[in-house]
Amino acid sequence: MADSEVLILFAHPALQNSRVNKVLIEAVMEVEGVTVHDLYEEYPDFAIDVKKEQSLLLAHSFILFHHPLFWYSTPALLKEWQDLVLQHGWAYGHDGTALRGKKFFAVLTTGGSESAYQKEGYNRFTIRELLAPIEQTWYLCGIEFLPPFVVHGTLNMKKEEILRHATEYRRVMEAITTNTFPFHKTVGLSRLNQDLESLFT
Ligand SMILES: Cc1cc2nc3c(=O)[nH]c(=O)nc-3n(C[C@H](O)[C@H](O)[C@H](O)COP(=O)(O)O)c2cc1C
Repeated sequence: MADSEVLILFAHPALQNSRVNKVLIEAVMEVEGVTVHDLYEEYPDFAIDVKKEQSLLLAHSFILFHHPLFWYSTPALLKEWQDLVLQHGWAYGHDGTALRGKKFFAVLTTGGSESAYQKEGYNRFTIRELLAPIEQTWYLCGIEFLPPFVVHGTLNMKKEEILRHATEYRRVMEAITTNTFPFHKTVGLSRLNQDLESLFT
């Protein structure tokens, strides 16, 4: 396993109706070193192949969840994936060391604006706070949790803006897979794509 291989666990239950995530995921599909794993396509009946998923995890050093935010959380299949795949004695617990040392971040789209995801905003919690169960899950598994890549305000987003985010997503993937992503500069960022220009200079 190269130390820069990325596994994107992609979860969108109605990709045929997607305006944003479809463009984002298509932008990174062909990046060398990136495996896009479309969970709803693979498991439309929720019958997850646990052994296959565990093998995929072992073969990659970066694990990403990519999904639209649904009720401040993941779509249901991605929760089912966590419940079944991250087994005791494998991912965590005594002898549960299979995933130690890997890195994780979430790629999310939200209908709500960035200002809504503040203490004073109408969603009252930041995205980082809402990701706490996932952050703690990966902590238990010995996986480093990095700031999320978040695309806010998707509901009225213009095509050009969607394409700009897709280009940024691709840029991040290309940097990770070529070991040139400046992760040391991301500490404390609320989102990875907050200011990519200054991150890359
Ligand atoms: C079932 C459901 C729940 C949603 N929950 C949230 C939410 O909690 N917060 C939010 O900002 N947007 C929420 N949205 C909006 C989606 O995040 C938004 O539609 C998505 O980012 C658009 O991406 P797409 O064009 O790829 O479908 C929800 C949408 C659906 C269908």
